[in-house]
Amino acid sequence: MKHLALLIVGLWALAISSCKRDSDAPKNSFTPYDIQIPKRFPPMEVPTYNAMSVERVALGRKLYYDPILSNDGRACASCHYQNMGFTSDNFPVTPVLPHVNLGWSKHFLWKGEKTCSLEDMMMYEVNEFFQTDINKLNADKTYRDLFFKAYNVQNITSLNVAYALAQFFRTLNSGNSKFDQYRRGEAVLTPNERNGMITFFTEKGDCFHCHNEIFLTDNDFHNTGLDSTFSSISKGRYDVTGEVSDMGKYKTPTLRNCELRDRFMHDGRYTTLEQVIEFYNSGVHQNSPNIDPLMTLPFKETGLHLTQQDKDDLLSFLKTLTDTNFTTNPDLSKP
Ligand code: HEC
Ligand code: HEC
Repeated sequence: MKHLALLIVGLWALAISSCKRDSDAPKNSFTPYDIQIPKRFPPMEVPTYNAMSVERVALGRKLYYDPILSNDGRACASCHYQNMGFTSDNFPVTPVLPHVNLGWSKHFLWKGEKTCSLEDMMMYEVNEFFQTDINKLNADKTYRDLFFKAYNVQNITSLNVAYALAQFFRTLNSGNSKFDQYRRGEAVLTPNERNGMITFFTEKGDCFHCHNEIFLTDNDFHNTGLDSTFSSISKGRYDVTGEVSDMGKYKTPTLRNCELRDRFMHDGRYTTLEQVIEFYNSGVHQNSPNIDPLMTLPFKETGLHLTQQDKDDLLSFLKTLTDTNFTTNPDLSKP
């Protein structure tokens, strides 16, 4: 009996003291976040170990815009600008790939150096690309509180940073261009845009085999015949896999918001979409070793033979892929 009474008193004291501790300490909080998946898009897989929350997305967004992650004053946003669809020309050699709809992507970077989850890709960015000094974050009280709230940790690790960034990436979704609106029956294309669309989605231009709906990329690698020989420094995906069949292959970039870019292809050799269209029309090197069979279909052997009007219309169509709701969305801008 005496023991029971002591136990009860003991438990009561413990309850009081832990209540007190709780009210002093910052609170871990989890407010579920619903990813806004554009209409007609497939569902996005989110790993259970990094479930989406409002606090985590907000933290990832803050980190994306904060030079604290790097050792030279750069933030992710120093090269990936929202108003250009999260790309830019701010890189001397390799054109910056856009951060658009990457929540559905498994392959990352032009040569596909990374085939992994978004979380693992972010680990690469944090640890290898930026070599983030995690002590700087741990020395910052605001970040300590935010990471505690979002991930229930007292000591921030690079894994926590990568997870938070991955959360923000899953919100960088573009699916409200004029073309999307047209496909949903909410907008009408001009006759020129319509003609361009037909060129794009039929064998006339034959773009859709690789730049297919919904993402305007097949998330795969191809040698499109840009060159007939490969330089000693860049042999495309071959540099990653060592497979001869990967020689000259690069990731198919999404054409969403391509109007806003000014460097095209893995080496930025073209600066206008007109040049890109002319490449597909008359510049493909059919003799490129290991060229994609789609580029050498019988009707393409001497080029696409598009008229000037067809080329102009194809350009008009590409411009319908621009999503200004995305490039001006205040939820994605610098917090
Ligand atoms: C100095 C400019 C620069 C900065 C800063 C920068 N990036 Fe990039 N980013 C690039 C370039 C260039 C590429 C394409 C490189 C390649 O494929 O070889 C790229 C590609 C990527 C890709 C692959 C996209 C795809 O479609 O495969 C991801 C993801 C990415 N960056 C995330 C980040 C994150 C996260 C940060 C901040 C931690 C960041 N980047 C900071 C220049 C930059
Ligand atoms: C066989 C697959 C394939 C076909 C067919 C194809 N593309 Fe591409 N496209 C790619 C790949 C791969 C790249 C990147 C190539 C590189 O950098 O080496 C690319 C790059 C581009 C780019 C540059 C994007 C950027 O951000 O750098 C544009 C624009 C483009 N393609 C438009 C078109 C159009 C228009 C057509 C039809 C006339 C077309 N593509 C047909 C695979 C294809």
